[in-house]
Amino acid sequence: MSALRYLTAGESHGRALVGIIEGVPAGLALDVPSLHAQLKRRKLGYGRGNRQTIETDEVEILTGVRFGETLGSPIALVIANRDWRAWTEIMAAEPPMREGRRKVTVPRPGHADYVGGLKYAHGDMRNVLERSSARETAMRVALGSVARAFLAAFDIHIGSRVVAVGSVSDARPLDVAVEDLNARLDQRPLRVLDDAAESRMVAEVDAAKAAGDTLGGIFEVYASNVVVGLGSYVQWDRRLEAEIGRQFLSLNAIKGVEVGGGFTSAVRRGSQVHDEYLPGDDERLRYASNNSGGIDGGMSTGELLVVRAGMKPISTLMKPLRSVDLTTGEATSAHIERSDTCAVPAAAVIGESLLALVLAEALLEKFGGDSMAEILPRVREWQRLAVRH
Ligand SMILES: Cc1cc2nc3c(=O)[nH]c(=O)nc-3n(C[C@H](O)[C@H](O)[C@H](O)COP(=O)(O)O)c2cc1C
Repeated sequence: MSALRYLTAGESHGRALVGIIEGVPAGLALDVPSLHAQLKRRKLGYGRGNRQTIETDEVEILTGVRFGETLGSPIALVIANRDWRAWTEIMAAEPPMREGRRKVTVPRPGHADYVGGLKYAHGDMRNVLERSSARETAMRVALGSVARAFLAAFDIHIGSRVVAVGSVSDARPLDVAVEDLNARLDQRPLRVLDDAAESRMVAEVDAAKAAGDTLGGIFEVYASNVVVGLGSYVQWDRRLEAEIGRQFLSLNAIKGVEVGGGFTSAVRRGSQVHDEYLPGDDERLRYASNNSGGIDGGMSTGELLVVRAGMKPISTLMKPLRSVDLTTGEATSAHIERSDTCAVPAAAVIGESLLALVLAEALLEKFGGDSMAEILPRVREWQRLAVRH
């Protein structure tokens, strides 16, 4: 059993998204506005489709919180889909009132439609696309915001930035404190640090959109002030980066994850990659660099945690890709539907929530504790103990 677990439910145009998170200690201050603040950030970004303007993403706390503090019991959240009002008949739980309802019979390339239809024996691929849609990630942001509130109690902060959209990159090193990063980037069109690179990315989005095409990209997520020693080398499934990889690869459209230098380290020599130790001022050593991205041997080093993820281009194109109608077996085009041209900034925000969930679980696994009163001194004591022997 894991120290912190969560589940989501909900279809994209169904009544609501539902989430449960269990394992959050009692006595953590939690309020709806802090969850809303994160949900709002997920809707950001140049190149998004109109769904973002339809949904207000108002989250309701149903259980597990009383008088602004967690109870230690499972926390259940719900986010109503406003769009559902237009879909009550199509998404009804009851048997259809009319015969001949329109089915989705042409799978969209790059989506779950075709394989999902085969797997679950759905003739109507709406039954697949409703759940495989990235709408689900709104709930993961809400649940991740609970984890983020927990981490904040230990002064652990999480931020992100976009470092590539399509083939345009921002090579600027991170020169802003993680605590200030989101405030700095959330007002920008693509959450990019470098102005010139961001302008070129905006032009790239415009060009892709004009061509009826879509883009992916790369984002980085950071966590600062991470407690040393989270995760472990002693068993494969306890390695911190293993859980980071699992969570990030569970996000729609993410096809690659790197920690620290990642694939760049793979093509360099050891002398350029490994972080040397220097004598520290106190009872710990200092790192001369942080190419490891804050993880050595499956454990957090206490240095800045750096996770990079690559997102494939949005699957639905306005200039549709080739497909086949499964009812006739004849070649046709995938159906056109207003959707995002690029959603990398949103994916970065979702990535923050995923990293928060990983770190919150790792922290709970190491220190345990049913209440904040129990876990806070344990972490403080560990900071004192984690010295050179
Ligand atoms: C934040 C976010 C927004 C997305 N928006 C769209 C969209 O508007 N249209 C679309 O076709 N795919 C969109 N996607 C991508 C699909 O969810 C995803 O590519 C598809 O489910 C198949 O990806 P997979 O092979 O990784 O499962 C989005 C993904 C994310 C993370």
